[in-house]
Amino acid sequence: MPEDFPIVPFVDADVAAIVDLWNRCGLTRPWNDPTADLRLARESGHGEVMVARVEGRIVGAAMIGHDGHRGAIYYLAVDPDHRRAGLGRRLVAAAEAWCRARGVPKINLMVRRENAGVVAFYAAIGFADTDCVSLWKAVAPDRAAVETALKAEWAARRAGAAEADDGPA
Ligand SMILES: CC(C)(COP(=O)(O)OP(=O)(O)OC[C@H]1O[C@@H](n2cnc3c(N)ncnc32)[C@H](O)[C@@H]1OP(=O)(O)O)[C@@H](O)C(=O)NCCC(=O)NCCS
Repeated sequence: MPEDFPIVPFVDADVAAIVDLWNRCGLTRPWNDPTADLRLARESGHGEVMVARVEGRIVGAAMIGHDGHRGAIYYLAVDPDHRRAGLGRRLVAAAEAWCRARGVPKINLMVRRENAGVVAFYAAIGFADTDCVSLWKAVAPDRAAVETALKAEWAARRAGAAEADDGPA
């Protein structure tokens, strides 16, 4: 992959390919709508989704946004066939540049605890752990109950799959 391979904001025609990449990289969850997330990032005026293409095909993507104080990165994904070639590092560098250009001096982000490889990736590119816990609350009235139920279903499915893996052959 050429070193100067451009990492650029998505265009409308990219939406399906970006969501497909996020699905293939295990980043989507039943309680989130990635297409709506992507559109909101762009339409809010405080977010963007950057993409990397190889021969016209999207092989990397990352959502970046800021809340007026800190930046955040979501949905960072590199196609499994293109990993360990520096693309993730460059997507994050593009997100950092996006923040700097807006006067946003730092980035906070969340990584699911079980995702040790991604924690190692972020450590390798200069991110440090914090002393903070991450808290959440659904503030849309119709969202909290639905999201809690979908998360419980998801956890049960995962526990069932783990049990099946441990079971007798
Ligand atoms: C995390 C991810 C984006 C990294 O992309 P990548 O293009 O492979 O990363 P890079 O090649 O830029 O890696 C930069 C450095 O990070 C470190 N690194 C990357 N992946 C790593 C892993 N799985 N384990 C340990 N270190 C890792 C290495 O030091 C690497 O440098 P090296 O290749 O010279 O050893 C990619 O693995 C991915 O898409 N994962 C699935 C989606 C995901 O979980 N995203 C994060 C959501 S929070």
